[in-house]
Amino acid sequence: MTSYDLIDAVGGPEVMHELMQTFYDRLFDDLMVGFFFANSDKDALVRSQIAYVHAHLGDRGGDYRGPSIYEAHKHMPILAGHFDRRHQILQDVLAEFDVPEPVQKEWLALDQAMRPMVLRQGREFRRSKGIE
Ligand code: HEM
Repeated sequence: MTSYDLIDAVGGPEVMHELMQTFYDRLFDDLMVGFFFANSDKDALVRSQIAYVHAHLGDRGGDYRGPSIYEAHKHMPILAGHFDRRHQILQDVLAEFDVPEPVQKEWLALDQAMRPMVLRQGREFRRSKGIE
């Protein structure tokens, strides 16, 4: 896809905020991954995640100043199944908000590319470290 601004592509700042709010509402309430967020500030995460994707997709106009994805997750025992669950919820939300197909693809690919930075336990993690 040619250059585009991510916020414009999803339909403007209000739509982007609603999309991310929906994503985090579902994550916080989810039986498989919700416990990870028990002590998290949802509003801060919504803001941070918008900045993150805006800084990494399309013409990268966003300004993300948070920690690296590795740093933000290194203290959490995230398994492959947790990752996949979060990814499925993201996929559902992007489709429900009618994000243009090519943007959905890039967004989901960025998310998958972060997988090794986020997993901290389990066979997939051990294999990535050459332990198994
Ligand atoms: C590709 C996947 C992921 C991306 C791009 C991502 C991105 C982020 C970002 C940008 C932050 C905020 C950092 C900050 O501003 O301090 C964050 C925090 C967090 N992430 Fe993720 N994340 C991913 C996967 C996951 C997964 C799979 C889980 C758990 C199932 C998870 C749980 C959390 C939690 C609980 C926090 C909040 C930590 C806190 O409140 O201090 N993340 N993530």
